[in-house]
Order: sequence, then C-alpha cells, then structure tokens
Amino acid sequence: MVSSGNTAVFDGPYDDPSGAAPDLADPAAFVEHDPYAYWDRMRRSEPVRWHPPVGGRPGFWAVARHRDVQNCYKDAARLSSARGTVLDVLLRGGDSAGGRMLAVMDRPRHRELRQVMLRAFSPRVLGHVENAVRRRADALVTAVVGAGEADAARDIAEHLPLNTVCDLLELPASDRPLLLDWNKRALSSESAEDDPFDALEARNEILSYFVDVVRERRRRPGEDVISMIAGARVGDEPMTEDDLALNCYSLILGGDESTRVTTIGALHALGTHEEQWRRLRTGGATVRTAVEEVLRWVTPAMHFARTATADLRIGPAEVSAGDIVTLWNISANNDPAVFARPRRFDVGREHNPHLALGHGPHFCLGAFLGRLELSAVLDSLVRRVHRIEILREPPRVYSNFLFGHSALHLRLD
Ligand code: HEM
Repeated sequence: MVSSGNTAVFDGPYDDPSGAAPDLADPAAFVEHDPYAYWDRMRRSEPVRWHPPVGGRPGFWAVARHRDVQNCYKDAARLSSARGTVLDVLLRGGDSAGGRMLAVMDRPRHRELRQVMLRAFSPRVLGHVENAVRRRADALVTAVVGAGEADAARDIAEHLPLNTVCDLLELPASDRPLLLDWNKRALSSESAEDDPFDALEARNEILSYFVDVVRERRRRPGEDVISMIAGARVGDEPMTEDDLALNCYSLILGGDESTRVTTIGALHALGTHEEQWRRLRTGGATVRTAVEEVLRWVTPAMHFARTATADLRIGPAEVSAGDIVTLWNISANNDPAVFARPRRFDVGREHNPHLALGHGPHFCLGAFLGRLELSAVLDSLVRRVHRIEILREPPRVYSNFLFGHSALHLRLD
C-alpha cells in the first residue's frame, strides 16, 4: 500500500530506526516505500542533509523544509539551473541542453527567452486553447462514464496534456499519435527494465521532428506559437533551429508527464477519499481549491535540483560553490509548519502555498495550462459522475523524480 490514504505505512529502509538514509538517487527506494514519514523525520532532525559521494558519484544536499525550499527557488543568482535541474542528470555530469533550453538556463538569457516564450501563453493564444481543452476533457470523461472498467491513464489522462501542447503549437492531428508514442518512450519510467537507449532514440526523433517544423514555420510563418518564437530574437540574435526545436520540445517535456500523472493522481485521490469527492460534487468545495489540493497532494515532481555557484547558507547548512542542491517539493508540500494536517486530502483547503509548480524565476511556465487541464477534468467529473470506484491498487511510476501512478483501473458511474 502506498500513498493513497491519510496515514503513511512504512515497511522498509525509509523507516529504519537506526536512521540510515535511503539512497535518494535510487528510484527503487521511492517505489517500494512510502516517503512521507522519512521526510517528516528529515524536516525535524536534518532539514538540510548531506548525502555523501558513493563510488564515483558526487554527493549532494537534500533540502526538506518549505521555507528553505522556497528560498532556494528564489535564489537563482547563487543556485544555478544551467547544469541541469534533475538529480539523476546532475549525477551523470549535467544536462546537454544546459544554457539552451529555458528550464536549464540562467539569467540574463533565461529572462529574455522566458519573455519570448511567455507570449505563447498570452490570453489571445490561451483563449483559443481553453475551449478545446474543456471539450476534450469532457469527451474523454463522458466516454468512460458507465462504460465499465477503464484505465484512467490510458483512457483519460494520456490524451489531454500532449494534445493541449499540440493545440498550442498548432501541430496537425495526424502527427499526434507518433508524438505520443515517442514521448512515452522518451520519458518512460514504468519499471527498472526500461531501456535508456530507446528513450534517447525517441528524444532524438522528437527533436528532429521539431527541427523540420521550425524550418517550415520559418519559411511560411503563421500566427502560431512556433512561428512566434522562431521569429523572435534572444540576446540580439535569432535562435538556431536546434535551440528552437529544443524549446518546443521543452513545452511537451514540461507539459505532458506532470499533467498526466496529476490527472491520474486526482482521480485516485478522489476515488480513495469518498467524503472529499462527495463534498466537491455537492458544492461543499470549489474546483479551484480542489485543483490546488490535488497539485499539493500529488506533487508530481518530487524534487528539482540546482548547482551552487557561490558558498551559501541554507537553513543550518554551509553549502559550497559547486555543490548539488536538491529541493524536495514532496517534503515542502507536507511541511506542517505551513500546511495544517498535511496528510489530510482536503479539497476545500484555502491556505495552500504549495510548491508543486515551483517558485521564483523558473516558476512553471505552463501553470495556467496545467491548472486549466485539471480543472476541466474535475468540472466534467462533477457534472457527470456520481461514484468513482478504484478497482485495484495502481502501479507506481519507477522514478526518484516523478511521483505518481502509471495506470489506474477504475469505474466511473
Ligand atoms: C517549470 C511543474 C505543467 C512547462 C516547472 C517547474 C515545476 C513545474 C515544479 C519548475 C522547475 C524548476 O524550478 O526548475 C509542473 C506541474 C505541471 C506543469 C506540476 C502540471 C500539473 C506544465 C505545462 C507546461 C509546462 C502544461 C507547458 C505547456 C514548463 C516549462 C518550465 C516549467 C517550460 C520551465 C520554466 C522556466 O524554467 O522558466 N513546471 N508543470 N509545465 N514548466 Fe511546468
């Protein structure tokens, strides 16, 4: 049993009374055990913990408290994103897209590119996407209601985020099945057996697809987002085709998996907390507060990471320039110093300053879109569904970065 209920159940090294730390770099530690009690202990006893080097692998800091995590997100001047923002990538030597892709860039170039990419999220562009998102979410939910057993991952969650980004980028419907397949292979983290070379190949397929699209839009610019970015200048120069492709891909990367697992997590949480589902369905709480609580409860990106560019103090720890610093959103979002009864799923929670979408200069670019997709699904559920019945305990995603379920068998009546 994992993260479904109000109580964390522990049965392994996370609960080791000797205090031995789990290897936060090892996905197995996250899949086999429920992490909440571990982070409770860390926030109390070692809120900024040094994980020493193992073998040839560098050591890293793990920051657990909400206040410290939030301050680190804000301190982009001393905590750089340019070498990479995921622990695994940093331990393997850094991100090859560093300095070229929005998420793994520092100021001043980050600020300039972000301004350009934010145009993709202007009300004019999003107004057009919003209707399509609501229609699609409703059609997906409607198809499952009363239809017997369904897999929320395959039948609902999988179709929404990628199609939304494709709408935003105006990619033809005929290309989408291929993109979905590549993207699943590129991000696949369902088991320890997944082949990293297959993932790399799929990523290269996506990038070369976008290089072709970028070339085409540069030749024949339209009103769409890719044409908009392709025509912009960053640092007084037009961006290269490769960098443009990388940043188009970053919208899929950022937008797909996180929204997908959060949608699955929303259905799981509502299906396992009947009283909260009743409360939402009968108007005792709003979809707006429920979306924020789902984001906090699921916290799909368990951590993000930075590299210190100067010596600095984080909470009680002295961090040196060059150190890797991991910021554990999953811990911050369950910090009782900020959230009353954090392991209570409360769809009406009003004070909810969660960090599921990050904070500061790198705050999620697609936050509006992610929230829109979640609220479209919840709106449709509230209108059309009486009972959410979870049929089996769902499998967890195999990752030390992404928290969630890769399948969810349920019945919607
Ligand atoms: C950044 C989470 C949806 C695109 C981030 C960050 C988080 C996050 C935590 C900050 C990373 C950091 O500080 O290093 C989520 C979650 C989502 C979601 C939980 C859905 C539930 C989306 C969507 C898109 C998107 C729908 C695009 C369509 C991005 C991009 C960045 C980002 C491009 C980098 C921003 C920057 O570095 O300036 N996201 N995201 N995200 N997200 Fe999202």
